[in-house]
Amino acid sequence: MATNGSAPAAQAGAKPVQISEVRQSASRENRTAAHSHIKGLGLRSDGFADANAQGFIGQTAAREACGLVVDLIKAKKMAGKAVLLAGGPGTGKTALALAISQELGTKVPFCAMTGSEVYSAEVKKTEALMENFRRAIGLRVQEKKEVYEGEVAELTPEEAENPLGSYGRTISHLLITLRSSRGTKKLRLDPSIYEAIQKERVRIGDVVYIEANTGAVKRVGRSDAFSTEFDLEAEEYVPVPKGDVHKKKDIVQDVTLHDLDVANARPQGGQDVVSMMGQLMKPRKTEITEKLRGEINKVVNKYIDQGVAELVPGVLFIDEVHMLDIECFTYLNRALESSISPIVVLASNRGLTTIRGTTSPLAPQDPGLVSAHGIPPDLLPRLLIIPTHPYTAPEIRTIIQTRSKLEFAAPTAPQLTEESGASAASKALAVRSSLSPEALEELTVQGVNVSLRYALQLLAPSGILARARGSENGVISGNDVQEAVALFWDAGRSSAQLKEREGEFIS
Ligand SMILES: Nc1ncnc2c1ncn2[C@@H]1O[C@H](COP(=O)(O)OP(=O)(O)OP(=O)(O)O)[C@@H](O)[C@H]1O
Ligand SMILES: [Mg+2]
Repeated sequence: MATNGSAPAAQAGAKPVQISEVRQSASRENRTAAHSHIKGLGLRSDGFADANAQGFIGQTAAREACGLVVDLIKAKKMAGKAVLLAGGPGTGKTALALAISQELGTKVPFCAMTGSEVYSAEVKKTEALMENFRRAIGLRVQEKKEVYEGEVAELTPEEAENPLGSYGRTISHLLITLRSSRGTKKLRLDPSIYEAIQKERVRIGDVVYIEANTGAVKRVGRSDAFSTEFDLEAEEYVPVPKGDVHKKKDIVQDVTLHDLDVANARPQGGQDVVSMMGQLMKPRKTEITEKLRGEINKVVNKYIDQGVAELVPGVLFIDEVHMLDIECFTYLNRALESSISPIVVLASNRGLTTIRGTTSPLAPQDPGLVSAHGIPPDLLPRLLIIPTHPYTAPEIRTIIQTRSKLEFAAPTAPQLTEESGASAASKALAVRSSLSPEALEELTVQGVNVSLRYALQLLAPSGILARARGSENGVISGNDVQEAVALFWDAGRSSAQLKEREGEFIS
C-alpha cells in the first residue's frame, strides 16, 4: 500500500514527503541462527525470571533487568537512554539483546549492528551510525482514507470530440464499475485518473482501490475469481474486497525514518513497493544528506504535532561496542541527546582496555586512553549497566540439552529417504540424533573447563561422528564427544600448541 500524494503533508501543501511501505531486509534476520533456541526473556507476569523458560537458562538477574528495559521501552520512557550488557564471552549478551527484540514484537523497530560495521571505505563512520540510528526510529502513520475498492467489472473510457478542433477525439471521462462482496458501484472518473489506471495496467478482473481525495489508483492484484484463466507466476491473486465499494479505510503504515530518507533521496521512479525494491538493487545515486534528514525531521515533527503520526522509538543494538573508536563514541553521546533518539543497547566482553582511536603510531609505547569496557568515561556514566555472569555446571548442562534438542530435532537432510535410493551415508544423515547421559556429561565438562561456546560447537560434529559409526538412532556416546574434542581444538589448546610448535608456523 504505497501512497505518495496521500501523505498528509502533501495535502497541507507542504513539501511532500513520500511515505512508502518498505519491507525490512531479510539479511539482518539471519543473525539469529546461533540463538534460534531463544524465544524470549522467559519472564513470568510478575517480572521474575524462571530458571528455564523460552529457551533461556539461568542469568536470571540480567533477564529480569532486561525485562524492565522492555517495559520502559513499551511505556516510551527509555528514549535517549542507553544500556550496556557487560560480561565475559559466551555469557549470553547477544542472546539477551535478541530476546529483548523478540519481547518487543515486530511493531517496534530493532536494528542490530556490530561495532566493526562502521568501518567501510565508502561510507563515513558517523554516517553508518546515523543510518542505523534512523533505522531504529519508527513512525506509525495513521490515516482514515475515503476509498473506492473493488474488482473491476467494467472499464470504458468515454470519448468526446476535441473542443479545440481537428485533433481527433479525447477522453472526456472514464466509466468504471467496481464490485465488492456487498455490491457494485459505477463511477464516472476524471480523465486524469484514466492515465493512472493505464500506468498501473489495470484491466477487467483486477482488484483496485482509488483514493477519493487524491485520485491515486493502486492495483492490489488479480481477483481470485479469475485465477484459473492463466497461471502466471508473477500475478498475485487477492479475494474480492469485503464491505461496500465506497468506504472509509484506516490505513496504518509503519515506516522507519531511514525508509523515509531513502524514499526521498531517490525521487526518480515510482513510489510503490515494487519499484522501491527495484531501486534497492541499483547503486545509490543520491546521497542522504544532513539537510534532507533535517527536512524530514521537520515534516515528521509536524505530523506528530497534528496527531497524524506517532513516533515509535525502537532499539539500536550495537554488539562488540569496544570496536567503535573515540570519534564514534563522541557522536553517540550527541545522538543520544537528540529529541528523537532510539534506545541504545550496547554489549561488550572487554574489561579495562584501550579505547580505539586513542593510540598513535608515533608513540607506540603509549597505551592510549584505558577505560572500562573500552568505552570512554564520559559515555559510561550515562549507561545502565547490566552484568552477565559465567554459568554454573548445571546451567551449562541445561543449555547444551536445550540446544541439542533444537539442533537434532529435524533430520539434517529431510529430502533423503529410503525410497529415493540415497546412499548409506546420506541415509545416516537423515536419522535423528540424541545425547546419551555420558555425552551430555562430557560436553558439560568441556563447557566448564573450556567454554560454553566450545561445548555448543562440539554438538554437531559429535552427532555426525555418532551417525558415521552407525550408532543406533544416532545416539551420541561419550566416546563420540571425546573424538570430536580430539579432532577440533579449542582456542586455549590452539594457542598452547602454537607456542610449543612455534617453528612450524610463519610468524
Ligand atoms: N542463558 C542462556 N540460555 C540459553 N542459551 C544461552 C544462554 N546464554 C548463552 N546462550 C547461548 O550460548 C551461545 C553464546 O552466547 P552469546 O553469543 O549470547 O554470548 P555473548 O555474551 O554475546 O558472547 P561474546 O561476548 O563472545 O559475544 C549462544 O548460542 C547463546 O544462544
Ligand atoms: Mg555476542
